[in-house]
Amino acid sequence: MCGIVGYIGEKNACPILIEGLRRLEYRGYDSAGIAVLSGDKIDVKKATGKLAALESAIESCAPEGKIGVGHTRWATHGRPSDENAHPHTDCIGNLVVVHNGIIENYLRLKEELIGKGHEFSSETDTEVIAHLVEEAYNGDLVEAVRKAALMLEGSFAFVVMSSDKPDLLVAARRHSPLVVGIGSGENFLASDIPAFLPFTKKVYFVDDDMIVALDRSSASFMTLDGKSVEKELFEVTWNAEMAERGGYEHFMLKEIHEQPVALRETMRGRMSSENSKITLEGIGLTDEDIRRINKAVVVACGTAYHAALAGRYMLESLARIPVEMDVASELRYREPVIDDRTLALVITQSGETADTLAAMREAKRRGAKTLAIVNAVGSSAAREADGVLYTYAGPEIAVASTKAYTTQMMVIALITLYFGRIRGTISPDRDAELRRRLWSIPEQVDLFLSDYEAVINIAEKYHNIGGFMYIGRGPNLASALEGALKIKEIAYIHAEGYAAGEMKHGPIAMIDPNMATVAFATAGRTYEKLISNIQEIKARSGDIIAIAGRRDEIINNYADHIIRVPETDEMLSPIINAIPLQLLAYYVAKFRGHEIDKPRNLAKSVTVE
Ligand code: M6R
Repeated sequence: MCGIVGYIGEKNACPILIEGLRRLEYRGYDSAGIAVLSGDKIDVKKATGKLAALESAIESCAPEGKIGVGHTRWATHGRPSDENAHPHTDCIGNLVVVHNGIIENYLRLKEELIGKGHEFSSETDTEVIAHLVEEAYNGDLVEAVRKAALMLEGSFAFVVMSSDKPDLLVAARRHSPLVVGIGSGENFLASDIPAFLPFTKKVYFVDDDMIVALDRSSASFMTLDGKSVEKELFEVTWNAEMAERGGYEHFMLKEIHEQPVALRETMRGRMSSENSKITLEGIGLTDEDIRRINKAVVVACGTAYHAALAGRYMLESLARIPVEMDVASELRYREPVIDDRTLALVITQSGETADTLAAMREAKRRGAKTLAIVNAVGSSAAREADGVLYTYAGPEIAVASTKAYTTQMMVIALITLYFGRIRGTISPDRDAELRRRLWSIPEQVDLFLSDYEAVINIAEKYHNIGGFMYIGRGPNLASALEGALKIKEIAYIHAEGYAAGEMKHGPIAMIDPNMATVAFATAGRTYEKLISNIQEIKARSGDIIAIAGRRDEIINNYADHIIRVPETDEMLSPIINAIPLQLLAYYVAKFRGHEIDKPRNLAKSVTVE
């Protein structure tokens, strides 16, 4: 849940570390800190709050040196404070550690270390790493880090720098992301690739239980039991510009606008025209495996879970696979009925969400085949699943997920049609019709994004409303839940997402002039029923904001405001309907003056349970 960065090279490390942290700030922003080796002394600077606080703190006294580490924190153990901010040091300040993850056995280790005379200066779990390395250090830093890592339980990606090793950074990883960037005469370590994208695109993905030794010209890898390992160097296609805001006021708005491209990229190589057959390289399932599946279990959290909820309707009706839904944090503790005919459909933008990974491992342990829909290449979910289908949305920096969501639904649609053909559960005509519709989606999203003045006007009118109700039916129940999540997440207005038919079983009591309802009223088999649900709300003085098809005239009689979207098949409509719900949340938050990309109390990637 934190961001770590390390630099070793010929340049001044401080600005490179700060720039890396700026690109990792989405991972947490309770405090930030850097440590740079200046001469033979490690200079540590920390500040509570966002990175800007650290930048002000070092304005007139930035540490100088060519090797250093940095950290941006999302607090787990110990409140946000300067003392608890990383980097943490050993007793005498000869070595520093930055860490992402949770050391589950830190209390026991801390007691043992205190018993041996170590003095602690923070409440964090991380500090035990610094003292463990100090305890094991006899001049061989790699060996000391290896010995320390062997004693840790929980999750970690950490980097250690020692004042007597001016040409060495040592890192270790288990269950928390860590990547190595290989430059020319300089090398990098980070939680995520954008941290060093301005400097290099050459990347090593570090595996679990692996140690990295990094000097200016090389990286070497070994397992925790000391065996050296050869790793494959990857060249990423993202450029630094792609990870920047590209002229938009916020990353979220930029990412909303990137959806036509992201959706096209996600189809690329899998469908080459509206008539082409779908191919899914990397799926990790034979045709026989696909025919044998008798149940799919969804493993996902938050927005990714909503993508699955929309996809469930497709998978059930077109591939005839029963889909069991539960958020990952519940699924893993529920003794789910899973066997070797179960497909665990793992959906995660980051590929590092702790609950999702744990539930995926549990499903695998029970014999399920795991298929991951992931955005972050080389992430834990991507490496551990039996099959991987990437979403190719590019880096998603805003905490509120947008393009990951629509591309996840796109991949589920591709999987459904692929499965449906192999299982013989979809008629050739329906298959052809849906492929044609799917092919048009990026263009339709583009069309919507070319004019959404209506959304901005509605956001302005309602940005001080007491609450929002989001209602939908069928696949658009997912739109309702996602709409409510987005508003809560960035606008901090209470919102509920409901199956429209459930309103009269309780929530309709909440309707009054201070509660506006967003109704997903695009064409579908329950359209008339939804209109009745809308009328019930209107009769109780609730305003209705309808998201409806361009040609729908019926809705004019019932809605106070209408956001018109391009028409598509009901199964695919949540992809298009996502755009207005994202924009509505964005503009409501903007009119309320919120800091949209980094909403309070949240972090982009939830790598703790
Ligand atoms: O990286 P993941 O897709 O696994 O993340 C799952 C959720 O944490 C994420 O979708 C979260 O709900 C978003 N911030 C919502 O916008």
